[in-house]
Amino acid sequence: SLDKKVESLLKKMTLEEKVGQLNQYNGFWDVTGPTPKEGLAAKKYDDLKKGLVGSMLNVKGVKDVRALQKIAVEQTRLGIPLLFGFDVIHGYKTISPIPLAESASWDLEAIRKSAEMAAEEAAAVGINWTFAPMVDISRDARWGRVMEGVGEDPYLGSRIAEARVKGFQGDLSSNKNILACAKHFAGYGFAESGKDYNTVDVGESTLQNVIFPPFKASSDAGVRTFMNSFNELNGIPATANSYLQRQILKGDWKFQGFVVSDWGSMQEMKAHGYAKDDKHAAELAINAGSDMDMESNGYVDYLAQLVREGKVKESTVDDAVRRVLKVKFELGLFDNPYKYCDETRELATVGKPEFHKEVLDMAKKSIVLLKNNNNLLPLKKSGQKIALIGALANDKTSPLGNWRIAADDNTAVSVLEGLQSYKENQLTYAKGADVALGNPKFIFETKINTADKSGFEEAITAAKSADVVILVLGEHGLQSGEGRSRADLGLPGVQQELLEAVYKVNSNIVLVLNNGRPLAIPWAEEHIPAIVEAWQLGTQSGNAIAQVLYGDYNPSGKLPMTFPRNVAQVPIYYNYKSTGRPVMNEPESVFWSHYIDEKNTPLYPFGFGLSYSKFEYSDLKLSSASFSKNGNIEVSVSVKNIGKVIGKEVVQLYIRDLIGSVTRPVLELKGFEMIVIKPGEEKKVTFVISEKTIEFFTANSKWEAEAGDFKVFIGGNSVETLKGDFQFLK
Ligand code: IFM
Repeated sequence: SLDKKVESLLKKMTLEEKVGQLNQYNGFWDVTGPTPKEGLAAKKYDDLKKGLVGSMLNVKGVKDVRALQKIAVEQTRLGIPLLFGFDVIHGYKTISPIPLAESASWDLEAIRKSAEMAAEEAAAVGINWTFAPMVDISRDARWGRVMEGVGEDPYLGSRIAEARVKGFQGDLSSNKNILACAKHFAGYGFAESGKDYNTVDVGESTLQNVIFPPFKASSDAGVRTFMNSFNELNGIPATANSYLQRQILKGDWKFQGFVVSDWGSMQEMKAHGYAKDDKHAAELAINAGSDMDMESNGYVDYLAQLVREGKVKESTVDDAVRRVLKVKFELGLFDNPYKYCDETRELATVGKPEFHKEVLDMAKKSIVLLKNNNNLLPLKKSGQKIALIGALANDKTSPLGNWRIAADDNTAVSVLEGLQSYKENQLTYAKGADVALGNPKFIFETKINTADKSGFEEAITAAKSADVVILVLGEHGLQSGEGRSRADLGLPGVQQELLEAVYKVNSNIVLVLNNGRPLAIPWAEEHIPAIVEAWQLGTQSGNAIAQVLYGDYNPSGKLPMTFPRNVAQVPIYYNYKSTGRPVMNEPESVFWSHYIDEKNTPLYPFGFGLSYSKFEYSDLKLSSASFSKNGNIEVSVSVKNIGKVIGKEVVQLYIRDLIGSVTRPVLELKGFEMIVIKPGEEKKVTFVISEKTIEFFTANSKWEAEAGDFKVFIGGNSVETLKGDFQFLK
């Protein structure tokens, strides 16, 4: 059996060789050049030949992977193959929408397929492990990495986590599937003030009920690896956090795979003020259950010594090594270390047309229609003068978003190109203004004058004579992502001024938003008749947007994260707690939980999204007034398409547990179903509520259902719902 194979190999290993399996190096050597002779690269090369490397990251291409694997297999004493990890976050070369956008599709099968496609393309270039899915729940749009996540909801986040894990890993014996990695464990999305890497301080109830569920779902779905995170959690850096890694993950959840640290996170514990030096950091990390060291050099340099000094038990190292070896066996690398190394397949696979079809499909599904007054959309297909304005409309790089390290710049279809294929209308393009970048130097080589309004005149002239103006505004694809936190959630640079200037001459505007996070755009919501949330949609972005604007695709996306009116409302999320002085609309007096200068309500709520169809909800029915242990209750609703075109609707089920041993949120998503309805057609949707549905992490420190009164809500978003009541009797 697998375990026997692992044990027999482990017995043959020296302590140094064991430590080697726990060491991951970043790619250091261009295999087309000479072998490294000096410096860090030479040390790494030497370590590789001595069997002191278990995995590499950021190596891509069959040629390079094969060359490194050959050294591991043929030149080391035991010939243990390497794992090759890479951030395949939303596609490898062919880029699908950023994960937050995909989450807006609520289409689990499409999301699974998207991950499957990314795995196939990455596997073809020799990669066998992706550092995805990122399943960090976040309620803070200032945090740049929300673009990479599942949004704010633990239920939706869990279903998406499962879909992505299944998509990447599928059947691990196939050479089209790769290992997945649930990251960043844990709490990374709760960074104080939305600043990347910042302190995280959350109580156990939020950890268990909000942050952990997508990680638990990933573990249950069989994810083989976890990555810990840069942040400290309640005073202990995640990398040295044995509550997270030993008690919860490997203890309570019985996770059998291995944990990799985040890049350098072990040595960063010195700056955290937790480890006094690199050796101390290595000791803390291994003892807390971090199995593999990504680029801290802590294990390779000190772990054997720490064992000899008695600071780390050899059995602790053995446990970590077993986990790594087991995954290598499962992947079939011992049978064929070159399983992913096939040059012919590489050539035939990367960027193949089927992938473009798939990313286009996913991109259309990810678009959310936020506003459509007077049915301005879809656009008429002929006889129209259209003015297209905005730097992002003519950008072929920004739509790729962040975290797409293998994709080439300038390879996305721009909105301009997408609209050009509708030839019966007259299209004029004007840039208007550049998109501001937080730190242009860091992101681009050239500096951009973001206060430059010299393009306004051309844009205004184009708008004046147009029937419809399409403004593509928002963030550049590199303005969100790691290290890209924002303190302002409005349109960067002078884009807001551009929008208002154009509006003055022609208010018939369709605003297409490109952004990697929720934006606070209250002026636009008040004045602009049509608003389309188009995120960063990947390689086929422009085609997807054009097809939605022209009605060749009826949008069905729903927001996976609340959009604030004002950055000061952040963190703002639908599943908040009531407080003792709850208020959502106008407060009854000043002493209620509210702002004196801003509303409590969001600009767009969680789960919100319109369609070119119109859906009417009626007839919420419960199969009984109560249920008890091992029983269940059915709740159904009728949804009618009272619009003129066939459409898709995501029917959402929420509950509220009125009294809990730990206070419960005012709403919790507990189910959803996507239905397709023809005009005039009515469909009944039924959800089953069981004990499992209402379980939470209670004051008894366990997941259980508490008896009591519940409310149930069903609707097309988290605000407009039909309501019912039921009881759970224990
Ligand atoms: O996978 C990433 C992680 O999300 C952030 N730090 C670097 C890792 C490897 O690139």
